[in-house]
Amino acid sequence: MTVCSAPGKVYLFGEHAVVYGEPAVPCAIERRATVEVQPREDDHVRVRADDLSLNGFTVEYEGRTGDDPDVDVPRPLVEAAMGYIDAAVRQARAAAEEPAAGFDITVRSEIPLGGGLGSSAAVVVAGIDAATRALGEPLEKGELANRAYRAEFEVQDGQASRADTFCSTMGGAVRVEGDDCRTIEAPNLPFVIGFDGGAGETGELVSGVRELRDRYDFAADTLATIGDVVRDGEALLSEAIPETDPSPEWLAELGELMDFNHGLLSALGVSARSLDEMVWAAREAGAHGAKLTGAGGGGCIVALDESSESRTALEFTPGCQRAFRAELATEGVRVEEA
Ligand code: PMV
Repeated sequence: MTVCSAPGKVYLFGEHAVVYGEPAVPCAIERRATVEVQPREDDHVRVRADDLSLNGFTVEYEGRTGDDPDVDVPRPLVEAAMGYIDAAVRQARAAAEEPAAGFDITVRSEIPLGGGLGSSAAVVVAGIDAATRALGEPLEKGELANRAYRAEFEVQDGQASRADTFCSTMGGAVRVEGDDCRTIEAPNLPFVIGFDGGAGETGELVSGVRELRDRYDFAADTLATIGDVVRDGEALLSEAIPETDPSPEWLAELGELMDFNHGLLSALGVSARSLDEMVWAAREAGAHGAKLTGAGGGGCIVALDESSESRTALEFTPGCQRAFRAELATEGVRVEEA
């Protein structure tokens, strides 16, 4: 049996503007998806998935992919999860040149499904890594990130960016600009996440921003300004000592840039009442900064706070369903059991 895990992610800076060629900085978080793979004698794939969400239900599904799962949860969530697992299996079979390889797969995840924290990317990355290792054909990380991107691209009809899969594979902070993805150095970042229990529709939000940009100069300027904020954030990250606890002054400066980034995203219409409420709750509780993360419309916010105050405040915020701490994950995909 081979077990691999991979982290989810938040956007420290730059979502939406990255679509127009500006840089963005996603960061891996210590919330992982774990995939267990056991090769089978036949060509069947059996999948068992527990705890695929923090919504308080458990998916207990055992069956071949392609069969109808008999579960009492929203079907789209299960179908989405199965689609990603199928795509990961196809990539692993192709990479190992074993088109008829069969597997028993168990998926566990600490990352809310569909909340913009990169849950699907983490499942795909850990799944491909575990399956190729189980077949005796481990991939180097660049190839793994590439195959995971192709799996997401396939399931999301070409709407995937490389950010999630690259970040989940490599861990730490990464910089994405177009197809150019690289890891960058970062100190320990004390992330706190608030989740409203919902999710925005990424495709609709991205096209909404595109329409705004075509119609109003201010929107094009706002996207370019987000790029400026990202570059300021990158400069600040490069001044910190990697993998140490940064000073409160440094965190205050980084947090202020996160606040600017949130304001600019709000101007583009991608925030939501629940997200704004969580952002303000965290700020008022003493967070250094807070912003929505991902496409917006609903889902998650990320705040910067080394104390437990923001998390407690978020837990008492009406629009917030779950709040949790998630430090920067310096390690990307890793083998848990060979
Ligand atoms: O919501 P997420 O984590 O899938 O992030 C979407 C990020 C966008 O910049 C809005 C779109 C993209 O593909 O980069």
